[in-house]
Amino acid sequence: MKIGRNDPCWCGSGKKYKVCHADFDEKLAELKSKGEKVPPHSLIKTPAQLEGIRKAGKLNTEILDMVAENIHAGMSTEDINKLVHEYTIAHGGIPAPLNYCGFPKSVCTSVNDVICHGIPSPDEILQDGDIINVDVTTILDGYYADASRMFCIGQVSDEAKKLVEVTKESVDLALAEVKPWGHLGDIGEVISKHVYAHGYTVLHDIGGHGVGNDFHEEPYVCHIGKKGTGMLLVPGMVFTIEPMVNEGEEDFFQDEENGWTIYTEDGSLSAQWEYTVAITEDGVEVITH
Ligand code: MF3
Ligand code: CO
Ligand code: CO
Repeated sequence: MKIGRNDPCWCGSGKKYKVCHADFDEKLAELKSKGEKVPPHSLIKTPAQLEGIRKAGKLNTEILDMVAENIHAGMSTEDINKLVHEYTIAHGGIPAPLNYCGFPKSVCTSVNDVICHGIPSPDEILQDGDIINVDVTTILDGYYADASRMFCIGQVSDEAKKLVEVTKESVDLALAEVKPWGHLGDIGEVISKHVYAHGYTVLHDIGGHGVGNDFHEEPYVCHIGKKGTGMLLVPGMVFTIEPMVNEGEEDFFQDEENGWTIYTEDGSLSAQWEYTVAITEDGVEVITH
């Protein structure tokens, strides 16, 4: 079924197809015929969806700012969970992790050698010298936004500080690289190059994801890649960039008891920063950070 040039555009803008995405679709078809991996329309957010995702992103950033103001040595990771849960609910949101595939808490708290999916606990007390990733995902009016930050508790070692900094730099370098009509592999190349240049490793098998209408959507965003390869990036796509960087080897294992928490195999430190971004007509918009 072909859409007529005077029909409303499939993107939900309310404009006629011919003045909206008609040229865009032609361009996509041409690129596809040249062997490019083009995203399906389902990965392109409507203007209304983008508006909703932006609002979820604004609340998500506020929650992380609130965590930044309150995090300190001596508190438990369960205290962080309470803060995030209560703030989210008080502002009309839903913490996406809670009950997601059975996840028991409202936020992920990953300390030191925990790579990701750390489960908050009253028995886990933040100590001077710890590094922790707090990963917040918020649902607001049905839309999702996902971001995480690292926090250094008190005086951390120079090595830990460096790992945290280099990981952040890798995300910022990726942000500068991301643009419409670029490729997913551009992100993987810039991140992995930066990480490897510092002697660290980055996880290949756990990475970023489309987000917005759901928690985890296509595409998979790998943080190891090659420029000019992988799915084409087009305006309206929304996804996360969230490299997990290990001080030592890339190998990891999962906690057998809780089925969630991922640790470095060699016990080395791991850091992660996560942004949700949207591809725009002329660049990239940070939805939450
Ligand atoms: N927020 C994580 C991500 O960045 C996913 C956590 S899933 C959970 O994709 F269930 F552990 F919360
Ligand atoms: Co994510
Ligand atoms: Co996340």
